[in-house]
Amino acid sequence: MIKGLNHIAIAVPDLAVAAKRYRDQLGAVVSEPVAQPAHGVSVVFIELENAKIELLEPLGDNSPIAKFLARNPEGGIHHICLEVDNIAAASEKLKIEGVRILGSNEPKIGAHGKPVLFLHPKDFFSTLIELEEK
Ligand code: CO
Repeated sequence: MIKGLNHIAIAVPDLAVAAKRYRDQLGAVVSEPVAQPAHGVSVVFIELENAKIELLEPLGDNSPIAKFLARNPEGGIHHICLEVDNIAAASEKLKIEGVRILGSNEPKIGAHGKPVLFLHPKDFFSTLIELEEK
């Protein structure tokens, strides 16, 4: 079902500091910051040959990463995003398997304009997994 790694998302307390460090110390090509108010984050994208890294900073009052940063004030890996061919089929299978899907249980349009689902970290060894339709 899963096909490839799309991105690793890292929550950071200060996006400018994190972007600069990736650029200066790791030689990364880092995008300009993009505000995504619908998702409660500002993001910079780092393109790798085989996947992306996304650095996330909270945006607004109800950011989904605010609690995570309260627990991990220096930042940390927030989720990994894996690609699937068919998100509806993936959702159906996971429901049958008893995996908990966060939110409404239905795929939502994610930060890249494609349907995504988030799986409960308690069902995957304390790792939040995002599935994105390729
Ligand atoms: Co993501």
